[in-house]
Amino acid sequence: MTKHKPVLLKEVIEAFETQPREPVKILDGTFGRGGHTQALLNKFPNLFITAFDKDPAAVEHANKISDNRIKIINDDFKNLKNYRLDLFDGALFDLGVSSPQFDDPARGFSFQHDGPLDMRMDLKQKLTAKEIINTFSERELLNIFSQYGEIKRPARVVRAIVHDRENKEFTTTKELAGLIGRIDKHRGRIHPATQYFMALRIAVNNELEGLGEFIEGLPMYMEPGSRLCVISFHSLEDRIIKNTFKKMHNNLGKIINKKVIVASRAEQLDNPRSRSAKLRIFEMGGHR
Ligand SMILES: C[S@@+](CC[C@H](N)C(=O)[O-])C[C@H]1O[C@@H](n2cnc3c(N)ncnc32)[C@H](O)[C@@H]1O
Repeated sequence: MTKHKPVLLKEVIEAFETQPREPVKILDGTFGRGGHTQALLNKFPNLFITAFDKDPAAVEHANKISDNRIKIINDDFKNLKNYRLDLFDGALFDLGVSSPQFDDPARGFSFQHDGPLDMRMDLKQKLTAKEIINTFSERELLNIFSQYGEIKRPARVVRAIVHDRENKEFTTTKELAGLIGRIDKHRGRIHPATQYFMALRIAVNNELEGLGEFIEGLPMYMEPGSRLCVISFHSLEDRIIKNTFKKMHNNLGKIINKKVIVASRAEQLDNPRSRSAKLRIFEMGGHR
């Protein structure tokens, strides 16, 4: 099983270490394999972590760690309001997919391996990539690829999908990547399917909807002087965080890093996944 290397770990620890109050209750909204959680628990011996993950595999992993300083909740972090929790004095969201999710062919996130067209983080959810590809209208597919994948001209690929699915539905990642590779050849070293797969994943997991509103509502759950760290992996997501923090600045607290924090060269060499990671930090003010 692939290990997940937590990205920007030193920078996240430093953000909490230098905040006005030492954290004793941190929210880890995206537990994954607990890389950040475990490092934070090592750093702050009095810390208690409440973690969310909507992937049952992540929750299973958390349950195997025998540390009663971790409480794991198998839900979407956007449902935080449904739980009665104490105020946090730190919060972390390391958005997107984990390496074990990406590298498990059965989850269908990657076209490097052949697997079912699935891409769900939450396995209780009904909508899969297969359903989107085989049943969504031509217009809906165009929207997904141009909006979430920022693909300039997805029309030929979409037309080919809609044409081919009349004869046989798409069921595997390789079938879809094969079609994209045959039609869209203009992307240099990056496989043309990369952006299409990312767009589909965002659509399946509804990753961007309500994200800004959720972040804006977080100060209600956090102590004054506590910090919120958000790591994103693609420009659309980062734009939402950046604009939301700008909106919150002065009314609800302050932006800590005007310039986005990216991984050092050493980390980028050691962990290619960190190359697209962007960290933004916000410190809560006194008002709710
Ligand atoms: C990049 S990984 C986090 C890795 C983690 N920081 C670590 O070091 O192991 C993102 C995790 O968040 C989960 N996730 C993504 N969006 C979520 C959401 N809206 N609600 C709950 N979990 C989510 C995914 O299932 C995945 O396990």
